[in-house]
Amino acid sequence: MKTLRLSTSEIDIARAGDIIRSGGLVAFPTETVYGLGANALDEEAVRSVYEAKGRPSDNPMIVHIADIADLDGLVEGGAFRMPPYAKILAKQMWPGPLTMVLRKNPSVPGVTTGGLDTVAIRMPMNETARKLIAEAGVPVAAPSANTSGRPSPTTAYDVLEDMDGRIDAVIMGDQCDVGIESTVIDMTGDEPIILRPGIVTKEWIEKVLRTEVSYDNSLLINIEDESEDMSGTYTDFKPRSPGMKYKHYAPKAKVRLIAGDNETFAEKVMELGVEAMREGLKPAILEYGNDANKAAHKLFADLRELDRQGYDIIFIRAIDTKGAGFGVMNRMLKSAGYDIVK
Ligand code: TXA
Ligand code: MG
Repeated sequence: MKTLRLSTSEIDIARAGDIIRSGGLVAFPTETVYGLGANALDEEAVRSVYEAKGRPSDNPMIVHIADIADLDGLVEGGAFRMPPYAKILAKQMWPGPLTMVLRKNPSVPGVTTGGLDTVAIRMPMNETARKLIAEAGVPVAAPSANTSGRPSPTTAYDVLEDMDGRIDAVIMGDQCDVGIESTVIDMTGDEPIILRPGIVTKEWIEKVLRTEVSYDNSLLINIEDESEDMSGTYTDFKPRSPGMKYKHYAPKAKVRLIAGDNETFAEKVMELGVEAMREGLKPAILEYGNDANKAAHKLFADLRELDRQGYDIIFIRAIDTKGAGFGVMNRMLKSAGYDIVK
């Protein structure tokens, strides 16, 4: 299959919309990462997304909408009968990098939701994404546009690296602003639960809802050290759900996280770097200070770039888990397969 390169012009977006409406796959920019879009109501199209990504079919997709009215065919009872907290978040946070899990309308095919009776929905902010969804005229199922297990793509070139020849088209937009995927929050219970942390933080959601929000247990870090400074404690991390799959966001190079203060970091990275070189490996270092937004923006792009440059081992400096750092650290941990050096 020849993968079309489309621009962000009105004509090209209309063409991309036609492709999605008629069952094809189009990768497109969002403010978080590039998505691989298909008609969410077309079982065949959704199946071909799983195939292009090499993704296990029990992993459900996020359905993207351009307008609140689009919720009516997707969630149980329509927009009007959503849980009150979901209504508030839709009003305050959409369009934006927040995905809500809601009870699904029977018209959403099971293949889109991995057989669940819930559906994850997001209204992206990126202008090209919103125009595309509107042009398609259908809700757009879109996982991140990477081969399953690889870092999510934040540029059109990163999409092509994984998907060229496997999908109908790519809209060649700009690099994504946020750089990590949307916050996913389960709104189906009494209390909202964050399933995937992102740039929309727990504290931010709590402020908007004026209620407590919790993290899913699998996201929690066991901190034995009681001190405020959380650096150096990541070695004690154990994911709480045993069934959790570890390899995610992984470049070809081996990734190791290094926690600790400046001095510890410098010592460790030197020691491990020298050791790697003695073994004939080419080591690289990624460090973002404690700027969580910058780290989010660059992490996946950097991992892919280091792969292209042929590095064998990447040492990433662990980031403070305050605010958006929690979501960034979640991606760092996964890309390292939870390999953390004290
Ligand atoms: O930022 C994003 O969310 C990007 C862009 C393209 O919008 N999309 C994205 O999709 O990251 P994906 O498929 O890579 O990640 C979707 C996440 C997965 O962790 C999936 O398990 C979860 O959302 N998810 C989807 N539907 C769900 C549901 N009904 N219940 C619980 N989790 C769900
Ligand atoms: Mg993904």
